[in-house]
Amino acid sequence: MTPEEFRNAGHRMIDWIADYRTNIDQMPVRAQVSPGEIKKHLPESAPEAPETIDRLFLDLEKIVLPGITQVQHPMHFGWFPSNASLASVLGDIASSGLGTLGISWESCPALTEVEQVVCDWMRQLTGLSEQWEGTIHDTASTACLTALLLAREQASEYSQNNGGLQSAPKPLIVYTTEEAHSSVTKAALLAGFGKQNLRLVEYDPTTRAMIPDALKTRIEQDIADGYLPAAVVASVGSTGVTAFDPVARISDITGPYKIWLHVDAAMAGSAMLLPECRHLWEGVEAADSISWNPHKWMGTILDCALFYVKDPEHLIRVMSTNPSYLRSSVDEEVTQYRDWGIPLGRRFRALKLWFHLKLDGLDAIRKRLRRDLDNARWLAAEVGKTPDWRVVTPVNLQTVCIVHEPAGLKGEALNAHTLAWAGEINQSGKAFISPAKINDCWLVRVSIGVETCDREHVKNLWELIKSTASSEFAGLTMNKS
Ligand SMILES: Cc1ncc(COP(=O)(O)O)c(C=O)c1O
Repeated sequence: MTPEEFRNAGHRMIDWIADYRTNIDQMPVRAQVSPGEIKKHLPESAPEAPETIDRLFLDLEKIVLPGITQVQHPMHFGWFPSNASLASVLGDIASSGLGTLGISWESCPALTEVEQVVCDWMRQLTGLSEQWEGTIHDTASTACLTALLLAREQASEYSQNNGGLQSAPKPLIVYTTEEAHSSVTKAALLAGFGKQNLRLVEYDPTTRAMIPDALKTRIEQDIADGYLPAAVVASVGSTGVTAFDPVARISDITGPYKIWLHVDAAMAGSAMLLPECRHLWEGVEAADSISWNPHKWMGTILDCALFYVKDPEHLIRVMSTNPSYLRSSVDEEVTQYRDWGIPLGRRFRALKLWFHLKLDGLDAIRKRLRRDLDNARWLAAEVGKTPDWRVVTPVNLQTVCIVHEPAGLKGEALNAHTLAWAGEINQSGKAFISPAKINDCWLVRVSIGVETCDREHVKNLWELIKSTASSEFAGLTMNKS
């Protein structure tokens, strides 16, 4: 494709995306396809000869679009918001078009220095002190793995330089709770700690936040039993019910033992753009690493995960390889982000965050976050005052966990009812919500926060939920009688 051909096709593509975003609310929220249906429409092998751009747009429309669950749809309330602001999409396009190669400062000085500046802007915007230095990873999962590698090397006094974990005199232990995201367990396993060295600390049954005294007891017991506590991963805004582990009290415990404290604020980091929410991660300054995803609620298109540490020297010591072909005369003066994470080749991710901040502006972003918090409070109040409905867990941010409990329905029957009405809504394509299982009980998470979702959409969802659950229950009682 020549630049001229790209210009024509590119204009058409931008128009296509703009139309897609304009008309998104006309589409079903959840993809209405069954497994294998998309694949069936694709040839078994790649085309030998080039095809026309017309054909490509046709395929995009007819094959790809039906296979997309529309997470940018204003009636999408599933999982967590995964906003992709169009300003950040432009940044992503610029990054792709430039085709940069981020393997060293020299290979793209702008990639390194825009990233440094943007990470520092985000530090300031979330109220973190100057002791933090940041980088951008693809995801919070990678950030957590990196954090646990740092913890492993700190606790084992750089065992990677000799026999690795296999030569460590004592088993190294990681602590988190069952409420933590599955990426925490994955990171602990990938970092070589082993499942039997992962402790799931007791949490408060109502808030599902870690109980600091239980952590302390476990650490003391482990030390007495000959283990070496290495890391605690605190969830700041958990995936299930947006629980907040008490970071300040946890750090009081980890500090004296020099246990690495990683704060996983993948979702709730966006809330820290609002000063009134920062009490939710009180004590964060005492942590060793923090990660959060602008690619969630804030709305910088995926993938964009911020990772901050207080001791970049330790990070570099663990991650650095420095082969001769990548060395240059300015190495002493510059940051080499390849030494701040796992991959060598890095994309120019900072551009999308930079575009997002510059083009949308912070005022608008903060206003939208406050709108969503307000909508969540509104929904929680409506649910709370409606007979047979209950808000199950505290509404700390924009996710409301609800359950419909008609009289006489309990245990497995209640679970079946919850899954039935939630499934019916998702199947209808009118809205999308996520059921989740907590203590053997299914509830429904309504995660508010899509960029175009306003109060009207939340009201429509609530009406849809009430009518679907009532008719599902009516059907259930009719079948019984
Ligand atoms: C609390 C929390 N941590 C980590 C993750 C993983 O995020 P990522 O998809 O960026 O790896 C999620 C995803 O929803 C999350 O909610």
